[in-house]
Amino acid sequence: MNSKGKFITLEGGEGVGKTTNVPFIKDYLLSQNIPVVVTREPGGTQLAEKIRDLLLHSNDEAVTSHAEILLMFAARAQHLNHVIKPALAQGQWVLCDRFTDATYAYQGGGRGMSLEAIQWLENFVQADLRPDLTLLLDVPVVTGMARAKNRAGQLDRFESEQLEFFNRVRQVYLNQAQQYPERIKIIQADQALTVVQQAIVGALKPLLV
Ligand code: TMP
Repeated sequence: MNSKGKFITLEGGEGVGKTTNVPFIKDYLLSQNIPVVVTREPGGTQLAEKIRDLLLHSNDEAVTSHAEILLMFAARAQHLNHVIKPALAQGQWVLCDRFTDATYAYQGGGRGMSLEAIQWLENFVQADLRPDLTLLLDVPVVTGMARAKNRAGQLDRFESEQLEFFNRVRQVYLNQAQQYPERIKIIQADQALTVVQQAIVGALKPLLV
């Protein structure tokens, strides 16, 4: 296949339903005969998954915001060069569970890191590569936090943050959507699953033509 694949990212705060909707989107694309690589950030390569583990579970030593953001972009550099770019070049589509909008939201909004610094790192690591489409699953923060807490297992380093942190995360996501309305489509995700998935298909359709 010669034509370049499309790069789709899925974003949102905690408990917005990414885990349910990633397989749905994959199956929908496959049903349209579109070959798709499903991956996630932080992660997606051996080294990037190790970095993910450090980022989510380093609880013995305080992780500085600078270390956190640089680790996010270190993982992203590996992932882009070993997985995302090669797949797109082969004409495969890539569906990525989180990408750089999460850095704006979590490190920029949540941690208060400078958005200009994030933009600089984005340009440095990605050059002009940006997603073709970003689906932002949006639910009120309290709803998402309650859903995340109900999941089995211990909360990770991000999930353990407080309400105010996630309010800032959500606000930056919504600001990003306002700034890039062509790329980022907000999916209201506190509706019945069939309604959410209809909205997802509606947002994907323009890419299929
Ligand atoms: P998740 O796979 O369950 O969404 O967990 C990944 C966590 O990493 C999530 O809490 C958000 C966080 N994260 C960032 O803080 N910045 C980033 O750039 C990315 C990709 C994820």
